[in-house]
Amino acid sequence: MSEAVDDTVRAYDLDAAAYAGAGSQVPDSVRADIEHFAATIGTGARVLEIGSGGGRDARLMEELGLDVRRTDITPAFVALLREQGHACDLVDPLVDDVSSPQGPYDAVWANASLLHVARHHLSTVLSRLAAVTRAGGLLRLSVKEGDGEGWSTHGSIRNPRHFTYWRAPALEAVVAGAGWSGVSIRAGVAGKRGETWLELTAARGPVAA
Ligand SMILES: C[S@@+](CC[C@H](N)C(=O)[O-])C[C@H]1O[C@@H](n2cnc3c(N)ncnc32)[C@H](O)[C@@H]1O
Repeated sequence: MSEAVDDTVRAYDLDAAAYAGAGSQVPDSVRADIEHFAATIGTGARVLEIGSGGGRDARLMEELGLDVRRTDITPAFVALLREQGHACDLVDPLVDDVSSPQGPYDAVWANASLLHVARHHLSTVLSRLAAVTRAGGLLRLSVKEGDGEGWSTHGSIRNPRHFTYWRAPALEAVVAGAGWSGVSIRAGVAGKRGETWLELTAARGPVAA
C-alpha cells in the first residue's frame, strides 16, 4: 500500500464506528441510484461492493433483493460488519483477488470509495473489476468532483484522508479505457458540505472469447 492509502485506511480504522453511526441515512441521489440499479439487474443479481463502510448501501440493496458481497480495505469496517452478522472480506481492489467462485458478478457498486485510489491506479482497479463482471454487467461509482488531489479532515473521521478529485471527461475516459461502455455521468451532485460529486454508471463491454 502507498503511504497515502495507508494513512487513509488508518484514519477510517480509528473512527469506523463513528462513521457508520453518522452515515446511516442513504442520501436521496444514492437511494435513487440503488433503486434504479436493482431494477436494472433484477432480483437475485450478484453485486460486488467495494468499500462497504458501515454497510448502509448493502442493507438497502439486500432489501431490494440483491445478493451483495461486502468488502472493505479498512479492517475496522470489516470487523464491524462481521459483528453485525454479515460476511465481509478485507479487500484492496488494486491488488487483492476480487473474483468469486460462483463466477462473474452481475454488477459492481463502489460508492465514495474509489476516490481514495491514486489517479494513476484507477485504470488498473477498474480493469480488475471489469475482469470479474459478466458482459453487460453494471458498474456504479461515485467520486468527488474537482481538480488535483489533497488531504481533507472532516465529518466523523478525525484524521486526514487522501482524496483524488475527478472531472467528468477524464473519469469517463479512464472508465471507458478499462473495459466499460455506455458511460453516463451525473455531475454537480450536491454533497453535505458544499462539495459536489460525480455519479457514474457504465456497463461491462463485450468480453473477448
Ligand atoms: C467515504 S467512505 C464510503 C463508505 C460507503 N461506501 C458509503 O458510501 O458510506 C470510503 C470507503 O472507501 C474505503 N477505502 C479507503 N481507501 C480505499 C482504497 N484505496 N480502495 C478502495 N476503498 C478504499 C474505506 O475503507 C471506506 O469504506
